[in-house]
Order: sequence, then structure tokens, then C-alpha cells
Amino acid sequence: MHNAAFAALGLNWRYLAFEVTPRDLRAALEGARAMRFAGLNLTVPHKLAALEWVDTLDGSAKTCGAVNTIHLETTRGGKIRAVGFNTDADALMAALREELGFEPRGAKVLLLGAGGAGQAAALKFAAENVGALCLANRTQARAKAVADEIKQRFPAVHLMVGWPESAVDLAVNATSLGLKADDPSPLDERQFSLRRAGAVFDMIYRPPQTALLRAARAAGCRAANGLGMLLHQGAKAFEIWTGRPAPLEVMRHALEKSIYG
Ligand SMILES: NC(=O)c1ccc[n+]([C@@H]2O[C@H](COP(=O)([O-])OP(=O)(O)OC[C@H]3O[C@@H](n4cnc5c(N)ncnc54)[C@H](OP(=O)(O)O)[C@@H]3O)[C@@H](O)[C@H]2O)c1
Repeated sequence: MHNAAFAALGLNWRYLAFEVTPRDLRAALEGARAMRFAGLNLTVPHKLAALEWVDTLDGSAKTCGAVNTIHLETTRGGKIRAVGFNTDADALMAALREELGFEPRGAKVLLLGAGGAGQAAALKFAAENVGALCLANRTQARAKAVADEIKQRFPAVHLMVGWPESAVDLAVNATSLGLKADDPSPLDERQFSLRRAGAVFDMIYRPPQTALLRAARAAGCRAANGLGMLLHQGAKAFEIWTGRPAPLEVMRHALEKSIYG
């Protein structure tokens, strides 16, 4: 999607993928700086380690406690300064608005998963002043740790660890359950019925339809997969690096073609 966007804007830039081990992360980032890359995206498992490497953190990375985008900017003195951003959480909000008409302020949200994506989403929902946030995760201690951080940083948010006792406006899957075609739904309907959810968002985009999304549609919920989130995190990173508006429809088309064929 980035290369399609560069081409559409007539930019002589390239977006390339590199596989880097955690041991080599620092060397790889210093190499990118030395080679005057415009910026980088980072994915699992590098999003936390990058917090320590960058020279400064944008508010988006501070809110989520993770970096998925680095801008290597040239200072007036000619040095290259690394600024860490997080475009995942803003992208989640953009996709929720665009695809489900969801507005976070005052809404009741059930969030499944407390890994990297779950934690970033939870902190973002809290920062956006949701009315209530229920955190459910296979390992409850991890959900509790996220809840403790939210309590400290956003004490006004109504928080619960476990399944909601009443209806919710939105349920979000931030677990990796669903990545395999025969995975069951991460939402245990004996604990919480999808008939009590207005909308369902699954961060997974491949496969395009998970067991959770099938069940959500059958229960009459508005439902969307994670492709829109992937698109918007890329579009936001593109704007950070280039300083120009992202050609969103060009990027959407390239992404859909590359992922779904
Ligand atoms: N659309 C996008 O742009 C986008 C962006 C980021 C992430 N994602 C997706 O979000 C998902 C989570 O990513 P992540 O980076 O947060 O991964 P992660 O840090 O590895 O966290 C994985 C989460 O899934 C849970 N989980 C794993 N296997 C499970 C199972 N069998 N049953 C129930 N829960 C299970 C884990 O629970 P425990 O704590 O109990 O292990 C944890 O909450 C992935 O599917 C990823 O593809 C999508």
C-alpha cells in the first residue's frame, strides 16, 4: 500500500520489509539512521524495545506505551533525530468510526485480549473517555495489569476485568484467536451473548471472516474485520514520513489486492 501511495504521489521512495531479530534491533535501527531512511514501521516483537531506542516519543506512543512508527527527521544542526509514534490506536478509532459508525466517548466497550494490541487499544479507549471498559483475557492477570495501568493514568474511566453484566455498544477482538481458519471464537457466548453487543470489530483481517464475525453477523450486530485498522495505521505513518495527505483510496485498493487477491 505504501509503494502504491508513493507512485500515486510521484515520490521516488520505496517501502521495504526486513526481518530483524530482537538481538539485532538496535544495530538495524542505527543502520537505518546512518543510511538516512525517512522512517520505519515496527511490528511484533519490536514495539516495546523501540520505546527505549528513539530520541523522543510522540504523545501517541506515550499513550499506548508502544512504538510502531519511527520518523527519522533531520534537525537544524544536521543530526538525525528518531521520533517514535504509535499509529495503531488512532487507526483503530478511524476504522471503528468509518466502518461501524462508532464514537468512543461515553460508549460501553468489551475488549478481548491484553497483549500488545489489546493494551494499546485499552489505553486509547480510556484516553477517548469511553463510559465503561470491560477487559477479558485468557490470562486474567494480564488483563488486571492493563486495568491497573488505566486506573493510574485515567482514574475517571469505569473499569471491569471479566465479562460485562449488561449490554455493550462495541466488542473488540484483540486476541490472536481466529488467525487460523478453524479457530473458535474468542468470545464465550455462555459468558456474554452477542445479542447484547451493538457492533463487533475483529482486529484479525486474514482470514477475512472469523468465527467471531460469523457469529456477530448471525446475531444481528454490525461487524467489521481489521483491514481498515491496518489501512489507517499505514496511512497515518505515510503522512508522518512524507508530510503529505495519504492517498487513502489508492492504499485501500493496493492493500485489498495484496491481502485478498
Ligand atoms: N488490524 C491490525 O492492524 C492489527 C494491528 C495489531 C494487531 N492485530 C491483531 O491483533 C491480534 C493480537 O496481536 P498482539 O500483537 O496483541 O499479540 P500478542 O501480544 O501476542 O497477544 C495475543 C493475545 O491473544 C490472546 N490469545 C492467544 N491465544 C489465545 C487462545 N488460544 N485463546 C484465547 N486467547 C488467546 C493472548 O492471551 P494471553 O494473555 O492469555 O496469552 C493475548 O491477549 C493478532 O491477531 C494481530 O494479528 C491487528
